[in-house]
Amino acid sequence: VTLGIDIGTSGVKAVALDAGGRVVASTTRSYPLLTPQPGWTEQRPQDWAAATLDALTELAARLKAEGHTPLALGLSGQMHGAVFLDAGGEVIRPAPLWNDQRTGAAVDEIEAKIPRGELIARTGNRAVTGFQLPKVLWLRAAEPENFARVHKVLLPKDYLGYVLTGNFCTEPSDASGTGALNLAAKTWDTEVLNALSLSVDLFPEVVASWAVVGQILPGMAAQIGLPPDLKIVAGGGDNAAAGIGLGLGAHRPGVGSVSLGTSGVLFAPLDTPTPDPQGRVHLFAHADGGYNLLGVTLACAGALQWFRDALAPETDFPALLEEAATVPDGAEGVTFLPYLAGERSPLMNPDVRGSWSGLSLAHRRPQLVRALLEGTVCALSDTYRVMGPMSSLTTLLATGGGARSDLWLGLVSGALELPVQHIEHAPGAAEGAALLAMPAAGLFPDIKAVMDTLRPQGEAVAPQPMTRALAQHAAALAALSAQQ
Ligand code: XUL
Repeated sequence: VTLGIDIGTSGVKAVALDAGGRVVASTTRSYPLLTPQPGWTEQRPQDWAAATLDALTELAARLKAEGHTPLALGLSGQMHGAVFLDAGGEVIRPAPLWNDQRTGAAVDEIEAKIPRGELIARTGNRAVTGFQLPKVLWLRAAEPENFARVHKVLLPKDYLGYVLTGNFCTEPSDASGTGALNLAAKTWDTEVLNALSLSVDLFPEVVASWAVVGQILPGMAAQIGLPPDLKIVAGGGDNAAAGIGLGLGAHRPGVGSVSLGTSGVLFAPLDTPTPDPQGRVHLFAHADGGYNLLGVTLACAGALQWFRDALAPETDFPALLEEAATVPDGAEGVTFLPYLAGERSPLMNPDVRGSWSGLSLAHRRPQLVRALLEGTVCALSDTYRVMGPMSSLTTLLATGGGARSDLWLGLVSGALELPVQHIEHAPGAAEGAALLAMPAAGLFPDIKAVMDTLRPQGEAVAPQPMTRALAQHAAALAALSAQQ
């Protein structure tokens, strides 16, 4: 079997897959999210390591009892975070995460030193508050004594790779989320780093996503109960690894994915690194050797969670979704802008905020929930309007907690005018990481051969009308930008 881990924001998942890609065992562990100041989100990398070693220990014991031998382990995890290590490999401070918004001044610094168009042409992205590069500049400005101690800056999953092997490595899919990787060359962009007076030595070596980072350290193997010759494989950022699990890649350019999770994510494979000239959607390296566009809306199922927690704590999600299904397109005139956490694609504005409009005495909770769902889907549709013409999407595979709702998926299908298939038990990033480890395990000749076996299929949901909702959303968005 091969193993895969996904260092998520709420916890870590570890899985074991057999050579046919079937899940043999899986387990999870959670860890806390720290919010020391408004707009700051952090985690302790030591918590990731402890939870991962614990999860792997349980997995290893179960595999041993069932007679399975782990051959290789692939890494994946939340993108964009910054783990600052000193020369002794010790963590200097908690790691700011992908959704941290403290780096506004650092983004301005990048934009002042590197013209936006040039940064996008080199790295595929404009400067984004959540990315890793501005976090490094933030540390230099805000905590100079900590910055002076930094020997390496690692992404979350690459820190686990270091803990397991003692080696500093990354791979293109996650490294492209730093904002400092030259996408065409898939190496650190020294022009960008020089312009910011940062040494390339701060960053780890970039290897292929399916390459072996190193062998597990003997002490780690003994502690966890894993074979001493276990190979640790570079893996991929969580979106790329999940894309591998869904069989998404430039060999099937028409198939993309939509994830209705805390955030909403649209994934489209590409074979060349062609960015949006305005940087309204992300362009990243994919873990299969190609590229992908990624549109990220920050409030999706997270918006429904917020609504439930704030206004309907006694009600469960299926009941709220059933109420929404009784209300027609346009929510009887109610419009919800879902920018509860600022917005990435396509607005790229950390300061924009959400709103309700069109409320009257006639409205009740069903209209509010319907408008909320429509608002999250309209945000995805704004993103798709940028991504669609740049890609060749003809079908979306749906994942994430919100994908359990046929209504929500039907709204996506109606708004984007694309068939949306719900994938039952969709493989996630941990499974994708285990698949990326298959070539190193000798189970497949290369990642292309792995991808050729993956064809997850589901039923397409019935599209729901979104004409009124889209028109109301466009009007509310125009009013919002007129205000600013
Ligand atoms: C992608 C992004 C998120 C994180 C979450 O750009 O910020 O999807 O990867 O884990």
